[in-house]
Amino acid sequence: MEPENRYLLALYTSPRRRGNTSLLLDSLVEGAVEGGVEPVTFRVAEMDIRPCRGCDACARDGECVQKDDMQVIYPHLERAGAVVLAAPIFSMNICAQAKALIDRCQRFWALTYVLKSHPVTEEFAARRKGLFISCCGRDVPETFRCTRPTVAYFFHVIRVREWGSQTYAGVDAAGAIREVGGALEKAREWGGNLRLWSSGEDRWNTRHDPG
Ligand SMILES: Cc1cc2nc3c(=O)[nH]c(=O)nc-3n(C[C@H](O)[C@H](O)[C@H](O)COP(=O)(O)O)c2cc1C
Repeated sequence: MEPENRYLLALYTSPRRRGNTSLLLDSLVEGAVEGGVEPVTFRVAEMDIRPCRGCDACARDGECVQKDDMQVIYPHLERAGAVVLAAPIFSMNICAQAKALIDRCQRFWALTYVLKSHPVTEEFAARRKGLFISCCGRDVPETFRCTRPTVAYFFHVIRVREWGSQTYAGVDAAGAIREVGGALEKAREWGGNLRLWSSGEDRWNTRHDPG
């Protein structure tokens, strides 16, 4: 991985600024910074990211015709060495803010399957890391199964081949994640492990089955 790609893209998608998924991602980012990894963070819920129009214009040139804040995020989806998507469960799946962002990755679908010129090389794709962070109010871990195909698709289409998840059920009130033993520490540890980029070691211990 080129040194300039050794940074973390942190996507906060919950509208609750001090909510549970944000606290988890804050801890992860802190761990990354302690380890010397630069974060680039976006508060997606506060940005102007409109839903995909399904116009298929991206199939012509790989570009999205909607010139909103997604244009700021696109280059980071191509360049970041690690991508973390933090999204709460709303109505049995990821929140609409996260889903809109993923739908807007349709240009990467077009670049892969129509134009056959995805900007992320297979070599880089194999080295990138992904993580999905989520919380839900019901104390039912199976709730996260609904998210799996969508999250797997997201990492597939942006070309992050290795990804895992940290999901917590039964976490509802803003800040309740603080009461879950070891949760914030685990997120911090994942961020801290990003420093291993330079040594070539791999201790991400990723898991592909949310819930
Ligand atoms: C609109 C809305 C819909 C929700 N739907 C569900 C749901 O279907 N299942 C569930 O277990 N929790 C649901 N919740 C609870 C949230 O998943 C829970 O409060 C979570 O901790 C929020 O994470 P955040 O603090 O990062 O936003 C919902 C919350 C909201 C606001």
